[in-house]
Amino acid sequence: MTRHLKKAELHCHLEGAVPPALALSQAIKYRVETDAFLRDGAYVWRDFTTFLAAYDAVAGLFRTESDYALLTETYLDGLATSGAVYSEIFVSPDHAETVGLGADAYVAGISRGIEAARARTGIECRVVVVGLRHRGPERVEWAARYAAECGNPLVTGFNMAGEERLGAVSDFVRAFDMARDAGLGITVHAGELCGAASVRDALDLIRPARIGHGVRAIEDPALVERLADEGVVLEVCPGSNVALGVFADFAAHPLRRLHAAGVKVTLNSDDPPFFHTSLQREYDVACEAMGFTDEELNGMTKTAIGAAFVDEETRRRLLSRL
Ligand code: ADE
Ligand code: ZN
Repeated sequence: MTRHLKKAELHCHLEGAVPPALALSQAIKYRVETDAFLRDGAYVWRDFTTFLAAYDAVAGLFRTESDYALLTETYLDGLATSGAVYSEIFVSPDHAETVGLGADAYVAGISRGIEAARARTGIECRVVVVGLRHRGPERVEWAARYAAECGNPLVTGFNMAGEERLGAVSDFVRAFDMARDAGLGITVHAGELCGAASVRDALDLIRPARIGHGVRAIEDPALVERLADEGVVLEVCPGSNVALGVFADFAAHPLRRLHAAGVKVTLNSDDPPFFHTSLQREYDVACEAMGFTDEELNGMTKTAIGAAFVDEETRRRLLSRL
């Protein structure tokens, strides 16, 4: 058990963190039929494509600023209870537009949830705007422009998620250039559904400080060495990887090998209820199934705070809480 450890999370998608009970109450509120994506208190999907469809359906149950405030506060309260002092949540203004909620109202609701959770539990949180790769380069540029120009001090990073097998990384360089020029922290999903080449492309073309997943770098020893040399931080999500079949089980997961090779790694839940996980479970699995000691787990938490998209004063304060 790792209940006693302080924790930090850099990689969790807000709409992927909806507790099934909350999805159900939202569905009742908006009279939405849930059988296609929610059965017996669990989300229903078979593979990455059907996972994305279920994710979109759940996102469609949140339609107002207050809905998003409630979701954000609910997630962060639970995270704080498991010992987390810091959280970065991935938000996609595209999902807000889909339900007719403007990006500003969406981010305002999320900010309200963050402030309420911080007041009650002390948890610190920042927002990373995500562009959805499967919606194409123009939409991803739209999301980057929004992140760059929204002026909300809690929005400190930019990322691209979604269907990694669509489009080339080079199609999205402009979006990331816009976000970087605006001073946002840069991270990108790579090396999850696609292999080591996707991680190399991300490093060469996007120059991120962090990579979402990145775990399939393990297929190329020279790339693992490069990640270690360059100090790029991996947002590793073992439970997600095993649930999606990226690796057969935790014994086959490369977290231990990446850590041993000197790659900076952190633990994350990705889309916790979809993958039957939580940040607490990720720490427990790393301890019990992968044999990481408390000292090593604390090192990962420190790595996460070191790579957080926060100002230096906040980083110092967070480090002092570990
Ligand atoms: N969006 C939500 N979860 C994701 C994942 N694991 N990979 C890519 N895009 C996502
Ligand atoms: Zn993710």
